[in-house]
Amino acid sequence: MTDDEIQLNDPQTLYRRWEAAQWNPFEIDLSRDQDQWSRMEERDRALIHWVLASLMVAEERITTKFSGLVGAHGSEEEASFLATQQVDEARHMQFYARFQDEVIADPGKVAEHVARSREQISPAFRQIFDVELVQAHEQLVANPGDLATKVRFVTLYHLILESTLGLTTFRFVTDYLKSHEMLPGFVDGYSKIHHDETRHIGYGVWFLRKSVREEPGLAPGAIREMLRRLLPSVAQSLAPSEEPGGPDLDALGVSGEEIRDFALGGLTRRLEIIGVPLTSL
Ligand SMILES: [Fe+2]
Ligand SMILES: [Fe+2]
Repeated sequence: MTDDEIQLNDPQTLYRRWEAAQWNPFEIDLSRDQDQWSRMEERDRALIHWVLASLMVAEERITTKFSGLVGAHGSEEEASFLATQQVDEARHMQFYARFQDEVIADPGKVAEHVARSREQISPAFRQIFDVELVQAHEQLVANPGDLATKVRFVTLYHLILESTLGLTTFRFVTDYLKSHEMLPGFVDGYSKIHHDETRHIGYGVWFLRKSVREEPGLAPGAIREMLRRLLPSVAQSLAPSEEPGGPDLDALGVSGEEIRDFALGGLTRRLEIIGVPLTSL
């Protein structure tokens, strides 16, 4: 684990990092990606298509199901940082929509890209993003002052979606694209997104660790409850699909076991720092 994957920095430090790390999704050079896309092998195209669909849907959900956390902020410094995360998520969604517009398909509204992408995602993915995330967000909007509700939301959003699913997808997809010299503009944008995500995850780990220390009778139980509920869907959405017509993850050149070990290894380390070891579930 490199240092930038877990940053135990307080929200003010993370806010200042954000000010120093601005980028524009419309300035990433996609010209080589446009040339390559039509010439790529069908197998690669199908795989990337599926990855992009997952990212498009995930960023739309993550962007539109976040404002409740901004409203549930503690200090003004935390409110400042959370406002930057909301902007980042919109920027990520804009980058994937632009990639769809200029490389993959006909230009369209974000909603059209999301609707088309939705046809490709798995039931486990749907369960996490359309059921669990939507529910956790609604509960937070209704009870912004309730610590257990906020802890459950951050466990789902920062620890599961951004860390366990997000970092794992980033790692294996960019390794593959880089080693095959494919879609350099996409890799550039996705790497900038990843840099933002490490800041977001840093906030999540900071908040959960602080909550566990300050509310030991309440926070660890809320974290465990959420993990127990989500881990089956998480494992399923990281496993190679057995459905006919599903993505051919073998094309990435990694086994399901390697993917699972990477995801679980990261989660184990973060939970240790937070103070709720995975073995205690
Ligand atoms: Fe994001
Ligand atoms: Fe994020």
